[in-house]
Amino acid sequence: MLQRSGILSRSEGCHDDGLVLGARARLFRTAHITMNTSAFHSPTPSSRYHGSDPDQAEISASISVQFQHRVLFTEDVFAPNNFVLREVLSTAPSAEPSRVVVFLDQGVVDTQPDLVQRLRHYFQQHRDRMTVVTQPVTVPGGELAKNDPRVLSNILDALHSAHVCRRSFVLAVGGGAVLDVVGLAAALTHRGVRLVRLPSTTLAQCDAGVGVKNGVNAFGTKNTLGCYAVPWAVINDAHLLTSLSDRDWRAGLAEMVKVALLKDASYFRLLESASGAVAARNIHAMSRLIHRSAELHVQHIAASGDPFEIDEARPLDFGHWSAHRLEELTAFRLNHGEAVAAGVALDCVLSETIAGLPHADVTRILSCLSRLGLPIYAAEMADLDGLLAGLEEFREHLGGDLRITLLRRVGSPTTVKRIDAGEVEKAVDLLSIASQRQVRATA
Ligand SMILES: NC(=O)c1ccc[n+]([C@@H]2O[C@H](COP(=O)([O-])OP(=O)(O)OC[C@H]3O[C@@H](n4cnc5c(N)ncnc54)[C@H](O)[C@@H]3O)[C@@H](O)[C@H]2O)c1
Ligand SMILES: [Zn+2]
Repeated sequence: MLQRSGILSRSEGCHDDGLVLGARARLFRTAHITMNTSAFHSPTPSSRYHGSDPDQAEISASISVQFQHRVLFTEDVFAPNNFVLREVLSTAPSAEPSRVVVFLDQGVVDTQPDLVQRLRHYFQQHRDRMTVVTQPVTVPGGELAKNDPRVLSNILDALHSAHVCRRSFVLAVGGGAVLDVVGLAAALTHRGVRLVRLPSTTLAQCDAGVGVKNGVNAFGTKNTLGCYAVPWAVINDAHLLTSLSDRDWRAGLAEMVKVALLKDASYFRLLESASGAVAARNIHAMSRLIHRSAELHVQHIAASGDPFEIDEARPLDFGHWSAHRLEELTAFRLNHGEAVAAGVALDCVLSETIAGLPHADVTRILSCLSRLGLPIYAAEMADLDGLLAGLEEFREHLGGDLRITLLRRVGSPTTVKRIDAGEVEKAVDLLSIASQRQVRATA
């Protein structure tokens, strides 16, 4: 499944846990994430004994862990005069060059044929700071990377064969699927090797790549196996997006609309007016849109108080209970972004019925998604049982009661504990009619 290509070597290094910026980088967002792993928040361990029975003794302590989450924006990360990656991968000035294992999404390698060569030159140029310990490993792109267990196994094998240690770096260049599987392998190896992500799709730059989740699909369900892990750094390189297909170029907009609807009405207005720039593949306009989405995601992770989603509600999963089912029901004919668009459309219609979202806003949202070139309906939504299984999967995944995020207003989410099958059926019918109307309008 995996192929190796190209040869790389070494460079010099200096890493500071704070902010490090090369000549052509803009720091986008750094956030501190603190986890309290005990409800008792006691700084020192306390012991309690229940009579003389040691089986009933208790020792409890609060453990606080602080992470720094860094997302850097740059243009053309492998250009000789771009030092962003070098700074991120470098360790202390006096240290040996950092050891790096590189994983590349097959889709990027195929569409940017000079990538391996440019990567090789970059590492050669900075060989005093960093060295690639094995040839770059190519990973199949798209959902296959998460569906086929051999892909994860081969990545783990590559990391083992490269003799990585906990101070080594895994550099992953790819879409959300490749980042998810490589991230999981990095987290499993030695219980966590430093992961640097270079997201190569709009969706990965605005959402998947800037989050703290990794995972693969298993047992016929999305993201069943995975973990939470804060990456060492994320570098969003606009240049990587230039080779995307139109579909994958648009796919990220679904997650942008999602986060705008949850958190920022003015960002939603920006997305409403972006269809021309999106259709014209305006990279600067797209970068600005990605920037705000990534910022909102990072803010949520850092400031929600629940970076690893221990609480039951998961607001960033707006539209996703049905989206994950739609990916499965369409046998991945819909990509993640397209499924999210239809899932967001469905949850907006449900929001009108259940949470009082004004009808005019629902109309605006559906028309925004359509103008951005995203679907608001898929025929497979008519498989009501198949769709509703998504609610049960969510309930099971979260544990306890069902918690679904809906909207009261644009930018104002709410959590509901119940969605009836009848309401979903009606919403699906409405979307079917709305999508036919929009097809006719654009014909
Ligand atoms: N971990 C998270 O928090 C999180 C969040 C959202 C989505 N996801 C996951 O992300 C995945 C979707 O990611 P995606 O939308 O990035 O799509 P993707 O990773 O499936 O990639 C889509 C296609 O684009 C190709 N590709 C990637 N970069 C390219 C480039 N620069 N040029 C040309 N082709 C390129 C890939 O090879 C693939 O064929 C889903 O599995 C989804 O579940 C994860
Ligand atoms: Zn998503």
